[in-house]
Order: sequence, then C-alpha cells, then structure tokens
Amino acid sequence: DEPLRDLADAKGKVIGTAVTGSKLTGTYGRIAAGEFNALTPGNAMKWGSVEPTRGSFNWAEADEIVNFAEANGQQVRGHTLVWHSQNPSWLTNGTWTTAQLRQLMTDHIATEVGRYEGRLATWDVVNEPFNEDGTYRQTLWYNGLGADYIAEALTAARAADPSPKLYINDYNVEGVNAKSTALYNLVRDLKARGVPIDGVGLQAHLILGQVPSTLQQNIQRFADLGVDVAITELDIRMNLPSDSAELAQQATEYKQVVNACVAVTRCVGVTVWGFTDSDSWIPDTFPGQGAATPYDENFAPKPAYYAIAEAL
Ligand code: XIL
Repeated sequence: DEPLRDLADAKGKVIGTAVTGSKLTGTYGRIAAGEFNALTPGNAMKWGSVEPTRGSFNWAEADEIVNFAEANGQQVRGHTLVWHSQNPSWLTNGTWTTAQLRQLMTDHIATEVGRYEGRLATWDVVNEPFNEDGTYRQTLWYNGLGADYIAEALTAARAADPSPKLYINDYNVEGVNAKSTALYNLVRDLKARGVPIDGVGLQAHLILGQVPSTLQQNIQRFADLGVDVAITELDIRMNLPSDSAELAQQATEYKQVVNACVAVTRCVGVTVWGFTDSDSWIPDTFPGQGAATPYDENFAPKPAYYAIAEAL
C-alpha cells in the first residue's frame, strides 16, 4: 500500500498531521514521517510555549519539529501567532496600553516568524477571531487594538518573512453559516485593502454525523475570493466506547472531507489534528469522547485511514 504522502504528492495536495515533538521517535516517528508530507506543531509554537517568561524563549520543541520535517522532506505549518488561548500568564495578566499591546504583538510576530525565516510553508497568523454569530471574539487583541489587529498581524508576519503563506484559521467555519460568512467578508475586505492574506484554515473539529453538507460549496466560495483554503485540524469525534459501525461511518465522513478538498483546486490539502488516538486532544477536552483520528492508540490504521487513502 502506498503511503498517504505519496498519494497526496501525486495530486499536489498536502496531507499533514499535528505532532508532539517529544514523541517523534519509534513507531510514532515512523508514521509521522512515512505517511505525511506536512507537519503542524500541536502546541510547540504557541506563545505560551515559546515565551513562558517575558524575554526568555524556549524554542526546543518547535526547532525539533522543524528539523524533523526538513530531514523528512515535509512542509511545516506554523501554528499559531495571535490567539486568545495558550498565551503566557505574564501577557494575559499584564496591564498594557494600546501602544504597548501593539508592540508586544508585532515584536512577537517578528521574533517567531523571523526565527524560522525561509523554512515554513505556512503560518496560521490569527487563530479563532470570531464568535459563532460572526461578531468578533472579545480577546486581549480585539479589546485592545480593535478589529484591525488582524490586518496588523498579517502585515507584520509578511514583513518578517515574505515566503510563508499567511492564513486566518478558525473552527465551525467549515459549512456556510454566520461565522464562515463573517470570515468570508473579512477576507474580502482585507484583500480589497491590499492586506497580505493568502488563505483560510478550516479547522474541522467535527462530530460524527455532522459533516456540514455545504463544506465543498464553502471551500469553493473562499477559493473564488482568490485565497487558498486548507483543512487544518481535522478530527471526527464520537462518544466512547466506539463500535465498528461508528468507525465505518467515521471513515465515510473522513472521505467526504478529503473529497471536498480534492475537488477544489485552491484547497491545498488536509491536516489531521494528531494521527493517533493516543495523541489526540479530544479525550482531555471533551470528556467521554474520542476515537477521533485515523489510527488507534496502538498505531493500527482504522477504517478512516483507508478512507483517506481512497480519497487521495
Ligand atoms: C489544542 C492542543 O491539541 C492541545 O494539546 C492543547 O491542550 C489545547 O490546544 N484549535 C486550535 C489548536 O487551533 O491549537 C488546539 O490545539 C485545538 C483547537
């Protein structure tokens, strides 16, 4: 059987996985390198990981993942620069003037993007800026800088490294709905203003039985705006324990998602948010749910794995 990455390469698509740096040895490392042509650090590049104390940086895990990817001929998706979550407490708990906050944001972008200059394919510059109703999420950044923090972040990222594709990434924007329409309107406005925006990331943290019927249509409308689209964090969760009927349905749904991306030229590919159930965020975040990835806890491929192969 051909590795997923060879199937994806033949179609000019990305098949990626989120990874944990410390696990990149043994079977986990062999699958991560052998089956995927792109890696996203699951946590290692978040602000709280790289600058836990102001001015003192820890790049160890992020460097490890980028080095591993380069050794294995894989792209890297940087994740993520400007977000409301997983920030260091010194940042969250500080009191900042508008000018200070802007400087903190742009310095952070310059430092992190600059560190990996020329080595990353993509950056998720802004993560999760919207509420479900399409209004802006009230974050440190929005409250301090207004909605234009998004344009400022994209501009700062481009200035720090002209090569990576710059994305805005969010969840529950896979189908056509109020949130994805707000994202659509934002991207349209940014492009009209000449702000550097290359793509939108649809996270796709899905629930079994709930693949949006408008997924492909939604991908297409972003493509028609003149930006790339990526499925950036795919997983399909279910209540535990899972049975074989549910795993078969999950396979069908993985295939639907990959098919929707393959069908649209400007959909660059699909990244799964952890390739094994032993390295998935779902059980920790949604107690009682799991089995969301294409490999089980023992690294055995599940029906979802074969479904991805069929779609590629
Ligand atoms: C998750 C990680 O997988 C977990 O290990 C961590 O505890 C919380 O964050 N949307 C995102 C990702 O953009 O960064 C999140 O990753 C999952 C939801």
